[in-house]
Amino acid sequence: MGKITVPAVRDRKVRNGSDRLVMVTAYDAPGARTATEAGVDVVLVGDSVAMVVLGYDDTLQVTIDDMAHHTAAVARAKPDALIVGDLPWLSYHITIAETVQNAARLVRAGAQSVKLEGGKKRLPMVEAIIDSEIPVMGHLGLTPQSMHVMGGFKVQAKQSEAALALVEEAKALQHAGCFALVLEGVPDQVARMVTDALDIPTIGIGAGPHCDGQVLVYHDLLGIEDRVTPKFVRRYADVKGVSVEAMAAFAADVRSGAFPSDDESYHLAAAEAEALALYG
Ligand code: KIV
Repeated sequence: MGKITVPAVRDRKVRNGSDRLVMVTAYDAPGARTATEAGVDVVLVGDSVAMVVLGYDDTLQVTIDDMAHHTAAVARAKPDALIVGDLPWLSYHITIAETVQNAARLVRAGAQSVKLEGGKKRLPMVEAIIDSEIPVMGHLGLTPQSMHVMGGFKVQAKQSEAALALVEEAKALQHAGCFALVLEGVPDQVARMVTDALDIPTIGIGAGPHCDGQVLVYHDLLGIEDRVTPKFVRRYADVKGVSVEAMAAFAADVRSGAFPSDDESYHLAAAEAEALALYG
């Protein structure tokens, strides 16, 4: 397939005849290799790592150090997919200098672009990152880093006024130079309005079928995370179930003595075994 670049992603507008973009999250080298072999276009090293890998209840707990660590692991697999590093909460909220340095950390870890949450109030940070030659993906709608302000993980832009405001936020991010936009947790008609209003591609999660692409979290898509199933998740495998079954079979074999077999063990050469028997 060859390496997918930011300009190639920016051009992927369905209304211009492009195929829909496929984005998945990945947090380590095996995940990135799986995405490459599956022909995925974009790998997002999402701050969802906090919840699906590190065991936190929300995404607010991860730091730029955590995100650089996981971005580097993904980058070592050299995926064909474009790597987007997710800027965690508070890494782009304080000063412009800190924001650019944090975005640069993810690029130095191997990302070709970064993602951040929020619209108009983040424009100075978006512009500063882009001025530093780092491409930015926007993220609007249900933005998990704002969970306390939103009162939880709730579908956004359900009223007409909020829907129109969301379209304006999206246009502002495009105007600032974002190359693509994640739309999370919004009604499908609202996602369609945003998608129609923009020349850059929209990538939906819980935003219906009218976006220019779709993203799912790795552990949701593969059925590794099986404790909660949001309405928008489709599970394409039961990796958790298969893994539990495999591990239980291993445990049973260890307990019964069926593992390891003779074939799965190393043996001394006959002469060495004889020499040892002399000492015995
Ligand atoms: O961190 C993440 O996984 C995300 C996606 C849900 C878009 O931001």
